[in-house]
Amino acid sequence: METLRWRTGRLELIDQRRLPLEFEYVACTDALQTAAAIRDMVVRGAPAIGCTAAYGVALEAQRHAGAARAQFDTALQAAFRVLAASRPTAVNLFWAIERMRQCQVQTRSGSTRAAADAMLELAHAMRSDDIEICRAIGRNGAPLIAQGARVMTHCNAGALATAGHGTALGVIRSARDAGKRISVIANETRPYLQGARLTAWEMVQENIPVTLVTDNMAGHLMQLGRVDVVVVGADRIAVNGDTANKIGTYTVAVLAERHRIPFYVAAPLSTIDIAIAEGSAIPIEERDPAEVTGFRGLHWAPEGVEVANPAFDVTPAALITGIITERGVIMQPDAKQIRALFEN
Ligand code: MRU
Repeated sequence: METLRWRTGRLELIDQRRLPLEFEYVACTDALQTAAAIRDMVVRGAPAIGCTAAYGVALEAQRHAGAARAQFDTALQAAFRVLAASRPTAVNLFWAIERMRQCQVQTRSGSTRAAADAMLELAHAMRSDDIEICRAIGRNGAPLIAQGARVMTHCNAGALATAGHGTALGVIRSARDAGKRISVIANETRPYLQGARLTAWEMVQENIPVTLVTDNMAGHLMQLGRVDVVVVGADRIAVNGDTANKIGTYTVAVLAERHRIPFYVAAPLSTIDIAIAEGSAIPIEERDPAEVTGFRGLHWAPEGVEVANPAFDVTPAALITGIITERGVIMQPDAKQIRALFEN
């Protein structure tokens, strides 16, 4: 399964809004369409958003390859702007845009055709690197999952949320591949249902035993001793280890601490924002109230009711047992260990 792929000069994305009922790709041919695909949740999940944005810039560069330098630069500026405005929380988006911007600067002395080709090569490299990085996260995290473990996860940090393999689900896949008979408890993840629609689907596809539960069942299951470990992904990690992830993750972390269940975050270094000292500075996306009051045309709340719909929350580092990265696992994360990850 390819979450995003390059075909005949276009970016193709699995339309995640339609899963699990339909599996189809939609194509993007410019930065504007790519930004709309991110904003409208065709593609979602921090690393997948980053890779998609890189292709969004590359598409725009290809469209203007051969143009005069000033025109090429203006088009790219507009692409950076529209893509950066698509969603605010996942830092991978801004990380990817910055890498493309650096590529633009480095290729300034050659032709715009050469610059556009270099940018497309970089987008391809970011996509294939992301798969390798997820495999490394999986390898590093698998030893933390015991034989027979019942693993709770929240939202979807799977192949669909990355270029492939996944972060939290990458750990689960790698543990299974290492011969562990594990099972997954997928929290539904209200209001957008990434757990029910995407995580449950990925696990069913791969014959990994999965039990779908609504979010408010997590505490009960932990109290009954039916959860051995929690593994989730991340959208942005501050330097002190505070972690923004899908709304409801904080609740699960508090419950895990109460029940002395290890709580791990699996994420690549591109999800760590070294410019942000602590979680309170992470911008939290507020989404359409319609996601809370109904779903796909069905409405269950009274017309005009006041709604809050923050899409992410921040789990303080103190509640996190460890962060699993491609460069290894840091236990009881803090600024010193997180900075050290970037030093080698
Ligand atoms: O709103 P979404 O679906 O983009 O939120 C996704 C998450 O919160 C994921 O857990 C996170 O991006 C990690 S994906 C490997």
